[in-house]
Amino acid sequence: MARLLLGVSGGIAAYKSLEFARLATLAGHGVRVLMTENAGRFVGAASFEGIVGAPVLVSEFERDPLRGAFPGEVGEIGHDPIGHLELAANCDAFLVAPASANTIAKLAGGFADSMLTTSFLACTAPRLLAPAMNDRMYGDAATQANLAALHDRGVEVIEPDEGPLASRGERGRGRLPDPERLLAAVEAAASWEGARPWDGLSVLVTAGGTREPIDPVRFIGNRSSGRMGIALAGAAARRGASVTLLAANVALPAPAGVRRIDVETTADLQRAAAAEFPGSQILLMAAAPADFRPAAASAAKLTREGALDLHLTPTDDILAGLVAGRTPGQTIVGFAAEHGGDAVARARAKLARKGADLIVLNDVSDPRIGFESAENEVTLVAAEDEIEVPRADKDTVAEAILERVDRLRAASPTAK
Ligand code: CTP
Repeated sequence: MARLLLGVSGGIAAYKSLEFARLATLAGHGVRVLMTENAGRFVGAASFEGIVGAPVLVSEFERDPLRGAFPGEVGEIGHDPIGHLELAANCDAFLVAPASANTIAKLAGGFADSMLTTSFLACTAPRLLAPAMNDRMYGDAATQANLAALHDRGVEVIEPDEGPLASRGERGRGRLPDPERLLAAVEAAASWEGARPWDGLSVLVTAGGTREPIDPVRFIGNRSSGRMGIALAGAAARRGASVTLLAANVALPAPAGVRRIDVETTADLQRAAAAEFPGSQILLMAAAPADFRPAAASAAKLTREGALDLHLTPTDDILAGLVAGRTPGQTIVGFAAEHGGDAVARARAKLARKGADLIVLNDVSDPRIGFESAENEVTLVAAEDEIEVPRADKDTVAEAILERVDRLRAASPTAK
């Protein structure tokens, strides 16, 4: 765990800092948050507190109830009776994101009029700034001079992204980068060595539901949104793996740094998987491929006239084919969507039948979880045990699945 101090100043991009705090916490880091008063006009301290599990500080006159400790640390580690510099002294890195023009000016001038600015001045750990503002404010000579001054004093400035800005219709440089990029920069600055345990591994993830054409405008499909696969791809990328996502009709964006290949049908997915799997050490088969396809898709759009009889033929079982061609050292995770009943027994039978190393079991009869929901609750069924992962957001469930994969690979004599 790295101890990360996150300073949030006033700007619309402050909502993205919530995502950063969540990602960093998910990655196992202890995060403490310092907000300026103006940041509180954009996001609430309670949101950060809920995410990181520790109080947010705003004023330099506030007492930190945790006395400078980070989440995950036991006991008090600071001894400063004044109590306002302990977090600055204890952190491994300090990121200000978003850094507004006003806060950048204060930091460049050495002001100490809030907990954020005071801590920044007192912090000897690596300090990073992620400016986010309107592009004209960013390009102004005053902001640029302030950033240059901070850079000269060893502060790492993470350049904003270009794209649509909050002011209606405007584009330019001023957007806060993706939280994944911010986290990578902070981890590198904090010399966090444990952050990329999957460095050098290639991970293949399938996501979404395939569609089998009936005619040029109609298809047979399913309700899979691709959320679980996307969460897995993000979690694997955060561990440093090189990740390829085979996305079957997924409307959501892929996580930053993930290579995405879009596919439509089960046959497309099968071809892409066959091409990518040999170079991968881990397969996470979260997609829901259609099990049947119309035997012959009509080349022209079908009309309403007359009855329509669809003759369906089974598609190939992609997972079974990949298992049959696997090489030693490859870890294969399948998913099972079961509808009530003795789901665990059926998942166990599927584990044996498909020859996977792990089956992630979803009970799709529960409407609170699964397909289109943001949450999931699964049972991880392996040859030697069954682990229940309680209901949580899909990112948290993804972390639990990857932890299980880590243990499977640690126990495997051939995993590399
Ligand atoms: N799967 C696959 N190819 C298919 C169908 C499913 O590779 N044509 C994969 C899924 O991606 C999943 C696993 O097999 O990882 C189990 O999917 P599921 O639909 O639960 O199993 P089926 O084999 O289709 O069995 P059934 O529908 O009879 O329960």
